[in-house]
Amino acid sequence: MEKMPYQPGLAENPGSGPQGQAQGAPSDLAQSDWRTALPVLIGRGLTLRELRITDAVSLCALLTTPEVARFISPPPTTVEGFEGFITWTHRQRRAGQYVCFAVVPDECDAAVGLFQIRELEPGFVTAEWGFAIGSQYWGSGLFEEGAELVIDFAFSHIGAQRLEARAAVKNGRGNGALAKLGAAREAILRRSFFKDGEYLDQNLWTILVEDWRRAKAVWGPRIH
Ligand SMILES: CC(C)(COP(=O)(O)OP(=O)(O)OC[C@H]1O[C@@H](n2cnc3c(N)ncnc32)[C@H](O)[C@@H]1OP(=O)(O)O)[C@@H](O)C(=O)NCCC(=O)NCCS
Repeated sequence: MEKMPYQPGLAENPGSGPQGQAQGAPSDLAQSDWRTALPVLIGRGLTLRELRITDAVSLCALLTTPEVARFISPPPTTVEGFEGFITWTHRQRRAGQYVCFAVVPDECDAAVGLFQIRELEPGFVTAEWGFAIGSQYWGSGLFEEGAELVIDFAFSHIGAQRLEARAAVKNGRGNGALAKLGAAREAILRRSFFKDGEYLDQNLWTILVEDWRRAKAVWGPRIH
């Protein structure tokens, strides 16, 4: 999502979320309550898991670069800021309003990116998702593999029926990534995102649960 719901001031009153230990396992997925702890999702070349406080260092290094931050809400600028963000993600997940998965490539132990899902209406029936990955991993397949896991999770375990994503029209990679997944470009949200002193138009990309399931049944992971 271009507009991340996190704001630094919201990070106060840190909760008692898991800080340093991923919880859950693929076999537990059907039974697990994601509000208590996110499951670990394993794909080709990567794992998606709960963010850990220790991920703040790698996320601060990778997600604050100009090329990554160009079309998203300003990320925290310090390791401490990312620690506050991570604590906030745990609190929001416990409140049942938001999910944030860390992207961890097989060769790493720390997060190199994020997938976020937030509730747009009660029960997550309509939800917004967003993502950012360190630029050295762009084009590596991490995004596609992680996106498929996250979309399946949103539709099968959170109860989403419609996933929305907003991408600045100028964000070539962001739009290319969503188009590649088979998302439908539903609308242009004119001047809907304020970034670096100007209002940008955004594309509204959507995926409906029935389209996703039909496409997966026919083609495999992607709608096309
Ligand atoms: C968005 C993001 C996670 C996608 O990950 P990625 O690894 O770059 O994505 P992929 O390489 O799998 O897919 C991007 C596609 O866009 C294409 N693309 C690149 N520049 C493009 C442009 N200017 N116009 C159209 N398509 C473009 C790529 O060729 C690629 O398609 P291909 O695999 O068929 O060649 C990553 O680029 C990122 O973190 N960007 C910064 C954060 C961000 O903008 N997030 C918000 C997105 S809404």
